[in-house]
Amino acid sequence: MSTQKQVDPGRRGLLVATCAAGGVVGVATAGALVSTFQPSERAKAAGAPVEVDIGDVAPGEMKVVEWRGKPVWILRRTPAMMATLEKDQSELADPASEKIFQLDMPEYCKNPHRSRVEHKEVLVTVGICSHLGCSPSSRLAAGPQPNLPDNWPGGFLCPCHGSTFDLSARVFKNKPAPTNMDVPPYMYLSDSRIVIGKDEKGEA
Ligand code: FES
Repeated sequence: MSTQKQVDPGRRGLLVATCAAGGVVGVATAGALVSTFQPSERAKAAGAPVEVDIGDVAPGEMKVVEWRGKPVWILRRTPAMMATLEKDQSELADPASEKIFQLDMPEYCKNPHRSRVEHKEVLVTVGICSHLGCSPSSRLAAGPQPNLPDNWPGGFLCPCHGSTFDLSARVFKNKPAPTNMDVPPYMYLSDSRIVIGKDEKGEA
């Protein structure tokens, strides 16, 4: 399933396609955080945090929500998917996510899973390619398939110029995209609920 969204019109004016695996698509709205947290003027201008129920995202499925006008992917990886992340990382351009695209990498996500340790199987990433801002398509299944190498481990393929990303949204070497996709700040409100755009330090 795919939808067309205008992403970040004031900055790039790019038309992107967002794709969801498993047919799971949802858009959460800002929750009741306002009464307990006073965001900075900068954060208010950029957009409020978004609460998302992830209890309905089964292993191997992905949910897409919108935060600050951009698609954010929430992928619950299976044990087999997780196993691909720490294998051979020599084909990744920046396996430790040392280069910044648009957002600083949260400290708590500086690991091969690029996720919080308490729920390391859940990837939360901004689904925007760091080349020219298209939204990659999910190619979650491993193995040979059109436009991908035979040893494809599962991940994402940008339809615009062919950049490929692993299941942690890390870009492979020798592709147009210069950096991995962004991981936004986020935190768990419960085992089945997260908030994007806010963590223990406050709002992004
Ligand atoms: S925009 Fe993704 S490869 Fe060019």
